[in-house]
Amino acid sequence: MQNKILQDHFEHPRNVGVLEFPHAIGIAENPVCGDLVKIMLSITDGKVQQVKFKTYGCPAAIACSSILTESILNKSIQEIISIRAEWIAEQLGGLPVVQYHCAHLVREALQKALQSLKTK
Ligand code: FES
Repeated sequence: MQNKILQDHFEHPRNVGVLEFPHAIGIAENPVCGDLVKIMLSITDGKVQQVKFKTYGCPAAIACSSILTESILNKSIQEIISIRAEWIAEQLGGLPVVQYHCAHLVREALQKALQSLKTK
């Protein structure tokens, strides 16, 4: 693996696990590769107080999940709602084009978690 940031987040993913009482859950699955990302958020005063994820997928999907969850901790919903897949890829130092869908999958899981919050 060439990319050291990606390798680090794949081998030592941050925030893996489950929240017992999450305020929001988002699950996204790619039907082509079969990878699945689940993101759980605990929100207090409009900010992400806790975040955990479970990703069943490729190294890039795990690394994207890890760096995204690390980035959104203690951020407001306003700050994270507009996060794009390209931004996630940039945080990892870039992704090969064939792995961009991994960043999109993680972003979709975050969006679904935020949508589940709105519908409560
Ligand atoms: Fe499907 Fe990475 S190969 S998410």
